Amino acid sequence: MNSDSPAARAKLGKVLVSAEQIAARMPALAREIVDWMGDGDDDLVLVPVMTGAFIFAADLVRHMPVRMRITLATVSSYPGASTASQGVRPLGDLPANLEGRRVLVIDDILDSGRTLRFLRERFESQKPARFATAVLLRKTIPEAMNTTCEFVGFDIPDEFVVGCGLDYDGCFRNLPDVRVLHPEGSAS
Ligand code: IMP
Ligand code: MG
Repeated sequence: MNSDSPAARAKLGKVLVSAEQIAARMPALAREIVDWMGDGDDDLVLVPVMTGAFIFAADLVRHMPVRMRITLATVSSYPGASTASQGVRPLGDLPANLEGRRVLVIDDILDSGRTLRFLRERFESQKPARFATAVLLRKTIPEAMNTTCEFVGFDIPDEFVVGCGLDYDGCFRNLPDVRVLHPEGSAS
């Protein structure tokens, strides 16, 4: 990492959700999702939102012993070293041909809710048979709590967090625990 980058100067804070807690939550969360999906034939599509959801999605799908297709969607909402949503922008084409399918969007965290509201609108307009969203983390702030999300791994306080797929300035996604991050200059 460039030693002058914002990520290099940022300070890692306390662990909010440990790798062990995440691993322990996956089987029950996966079961809830599989129960919600009901039976279907060859029509289940999971849409992990890149890049943040790649670890959560990988953990979750290995506890879902059902036939599925996995199609990635890439959106950008926190470009570079910002810690506040800058608006949602799809990068490349979003999955199409979802009519009549059961669709589950998987994201790392529900914060302002912009990302999930944007994707719900775009995907529901394709008339899927069922549509739901799942997140590993949800911040306990009104914007997040008032955004529809059917499956939530953990509710966390309103802190900027990294690890288990979540980044700051592109870094820290590989940390096994979810930890608070203090950008340089902020109170720790
Ligand atoms: P929302 O659109 O504000 O709900 O935020 C959703 C997206 O912003 C997530 O998919 C994350 O990529 C990013 N994000 C939101 N909060 C955090 C955070 O605390 N740490 C890292 N990324 C975050
Ligand atoms: Mg994201």
